Amino acid sequence: MEEQTGLAEYWSRRFAQEGMIWGSEASPTADWARRLFRQHRLGSVLVPGAGYGRNTKVFSAEFQTYGIELSREALDLAAEWDPGTHFIEGNVLEPMDLQVDAVYCYDVLHLFLEEDRYKLVAQCLAALKPGGLLVFTFFSDRDANCGIGRMLEPGTYEYKEGKYAHFFSEADLLAHFAGTQVMETGSYVETLRSPLGDAHQYILRTIAARKIS
Ligand SMILES: C[S@@+](CC[C@H](N)C(=O)[O-])C[C@H]1O[C@@H](n2cnc3c(N)ncnc32)[C@H](O)[C@@H]1O
Repeated sequence: MEEQTGLAEYWSRRFAQEGMIWGSEASPTADWARRLFRQHRLGSVLVPGAGYGRNTKVFSAEFQTYGIELSREALDLAAEWDPGTHFIEGNVLEPMDLQVDAVYCYDVLHLFLEEDRYKLVAQCLAALKPGGLLVFTFFSDRDANCGIGRMLEPGTYEYKEGKYAHFFSEADLLAHFAGTQVMETGSYVETLRSPLGDAHQYILRTIAARKIS
């Protein structure tokens, strides 16, 4: 719990200082997920760790969309940016009290140590209806930051002072989603643009999977 308070403070400080840190353009992976959810005629989407709603906005015009987020500052920005999503202040490592057709979770899973990563996947599966779909993205072990800094656990590095992430191999990815029917895995080079126009690229892994009934 202490760790979650620390995380909430870290993210709230960043959102308060930097506002829409990654700009307003959604990730192309959100468009990909929307097409997949549309193809399967799904009605509701949960976005855990929704930030300020950069990606929820892709879903909220078409699906009943819920965003769960720890940071109050992010939630204030999100309420303005994406009024179509129902944002809930909460911790995604705890039961989410929702039943949805789909989960889209962008760049949250790599923020945690192993025990909490498995907890997050389990909580998302618990919030998903049987047969529902999930799409996750997270840092790849092919990213330039993998292996930089102090190793906290296998594949997890403090790549910046006070900031760590887990960098997923394909085998690692499959282990985290072992309880699901994997539909597709992939690798993707993401470009993030700050509000000032600076661009930064990094390598993600992606997964689309179905909850086994
Ligand atoms: C790297 S950002 C990704 C933001 C968002 N998914 C997007 O698409 O822009 C991680 C987000 O997860 C949130 N977060 C971190 N730990 C969380 C937790 N335990 N419960 C809910 N949100 C959390 C942070 O506050 C932050 O907004």
